[in-house]
Amino acid sequence: MAETVVTKKDIVDGLKRVGLKTGANVIVHSSLSAFGRVDGGADSVVDALIETVGDSGTIVMPCFTYDWQPGQKFDWSKAQSTWTGKIPTTFGQRPGTKRGKHPLYDVSVRGPLADWVIKVNDYIPMGWGENKLYYQWKDKNGSVLLLGVDHNANSTIHICQELADVPYIANKKPMSQMTLAELMALPREKQEEIIELHMSTMETEKDFNLIEPILEAQKAIWKTTIGKAAIRYMYSKDVIEYGAAALKENPRLLIV
Ligand SMILES: CC(C)(COP(=O)(O)OP(=O)(O)OC[C@H]1O[C@@H](n2cnc3c(N)ncnc32)[C@H](O)[C@@H]1OP(=O)(O)O)[C@@H](O)C(=O)NCCC(=O)NCCS
Repeated sequence: MAETVVTKKDIVDGLKRVGLKTGANVIVHSSLSAFGRVDGGADSVVDALIETVGDSGTIVMPCFTYDWQPGQKFDWSKAQSTWTGKIPTTFGQRPGTKRGKHPLYDVSVRGPLADWVIKVNDYIPMGWGENKLYYQWKDKNGSVLLLGVDHNANSTIHICQELADVPYIANKKPMSQMTLAELMALPREKQEEIIELHMSTMETEKDFNLIEPILEAQKAIWKTTIGKAAIRYMYSKDVIEYGAAALKENPRLLIV
């Protein structure tokens, strides 16, 4: 049987089906291979996203460079690709897309909110609490789109963990209260110590997909498929409100 090929039109149709609208503000996490074969590759996915939200919407894709070298300056001119995938890499290379310069949590972004996104993400204290991009995004009617990836790629769930103050993120706290500039001003050994603690909290064994039934019960998640890819769409305010409440009630909810 001939292989199914996903076209840009299939992607636009699927995005509309799942509820992505003109003017949407959306954080996208993605996997290109999850679609099956996409005609035109990552460019078609990026074109479909830009076409669907139009000029009045803002698209954010995390790069999360994680290139932390205390005492050294990261060379952003070399930051052409990102481990978060071919789609964010392609998106980041498009004229008109801006890239933040946070050494851990940098994002690519285009649209009317681009400068605001970079300002929030680059200059406020780090971590995942209330003053972070993924929290403030809810006040911009922000949404989250998962293209062929599950909730383990859904960074907004970290906000729920911090709001619920789950015990396993205790190590993150020193860094969450600090601006990037404050962290950089510390002696190198102290910086390394704080970053190491911060990273160690990422290793707790958990499955963010355990949040999905909670969103489904609230009718706060929309799903479709495009080619072979499962597509999920939700509003940040719902993920944060329902996710944090569920984690407050059961701090072990996401632990497997
Ligand atoms: C890590 C991750 C990006 C890997 O996904 P992936 O589909 O394997 O990789 P990409 O999205 O980069 O797509 C590239 C792959 O698509 C495939 N591909 C290439 N051309 C293609 C086409 N035209 N059509 C479909 N697939 C194609 C190839 O397998 C390619 O891999 P290769 O470059 O090693 O050959 C994904 O699993 C993920 O986690 N994404 C979310 C990241 C994120 O936002 N995280 C947030 C915090 S946790």
